[in-house]
Amino acid sequence: MNITGQHILSSSQFDLPLLDHLYRLADTLVPVARGQMTTAVLRGAVLGSIFFEPSTRTRLSFDTAFMRLGGSVSHTTGVEFSSIVKGESLEDTARVVGGYTDVLVVRHFEEEAIYSFASSTNIPVINGGNGAGEHPTQALLDLYTVRSEFKRLNKHVDGCRVAMVGDLRYGRTIHSLVRLLSLYRNLTFVMLSPKGLEIPRDFIDAARERGHELIETNDLNQGLAGCDLIYATRIQIERMSESEKAANKGVNFRIEKSILASVCRDDAIIMHPLPRDSRPGANDLSNDIDGDPRLAIFRQADAGIPVRMALFCMVLGVEDQVKDSLQPATWWRPEYIGPNDASFYRMR
Ligand code: NCD
Repeated sequence: MNITGQHILSSSQFDLPLLDHLYRLADTLVPVARGQMTTAVLRGAVLGSIFFEPSTRTRLSFDTAFMRLGGSVSHTTGVEFSSIVKGESLEDTARVVGGYTDVLVVRHFEEEAIYSFASSTNIPVINGGNGAGEHPTQALLDLYTVRSEFKRLNKHVDGCRVAMVGDLRYGRTIHSLVRLLSLYRNLTFVMLSPKGLEIPRDFIDAARERGHELIETNDLNQGLAGCDLIYATRIQIERMSESEKAANKGVNFRIEKSILASVCRDDAIIMHPLPRDSRPGANDLSNDIDGDPRLAIFRQADAGIPVRMALFCMVLGVEDQVKDSLQPATWWRPEYIGPNDASFYRMR
């Protein structure tokens, strides 16, 4: 399947053969992502990066991926710094920026905004997160991480047991990932959320229709037991009404060392799209589990670069040029990135 020139708006645009293709290309690009090799397949190309919501890794990893391919990036961040405060429509903004650049990455707090962008320009628009809707490229790097961690552990995605934890209602990364995981067979999804933050029904129905088992619970101990993959998310406070915020006061949804020790499998992997809320009392992944080899969150974040590079190569039609373009990098790089990474990265 050829996605050259296409908008990437939803994870529902992907099937398993397309994912295999994307991930093979991402594997080839890992040494470029790590700064060990270089390529200039996108020399001269310009990415338009439009982020109207806070972001660290999504924005920086899209930018870095594009620049490591030899391209450059033009930015705007925050509605307050764009002409939208002067009353400009999203459609006009999209048409104008489309005339300046070759591909756009857009993050917007309103779910519908991404479609306004996509319908107003013929250059490819990539969804970098549309409100509480979807975050398809996060799901692409999440599944890439699941596959490489499972490979290391001799496990398969087919038949695995997955806990999706936290704010399943407003967490857009969950929505996109459930769709991708549902392409596999016979999964058991344990949907673990505080009351009121359950995953929207249509995701449950769609996964059941594909033959997966769905269990909904708010009992952390029971839900995490026996899972191969634990995918935790932050409570999306910024998307909640005042009454929803009040209803969530006093809820305990924190995944700590003690719970990992008592109920989680030794060969489980723990993922999170990040950022995790590390403030005292936050209902998120606790920092006391850092250093546990099951915690794959930084390997997951690292995967954002090769996966987004592969996506750019496919969307801009240069994937066939990648292999022959690779050259060794000449600058100094450490052997591995974080203090806990040594055993994982030497294994490749
Ligand atoms: C997520 C997002 O923006 O949806 N972050 C990310 O892109 N990695 C998750 C979040 O903000 O909680």
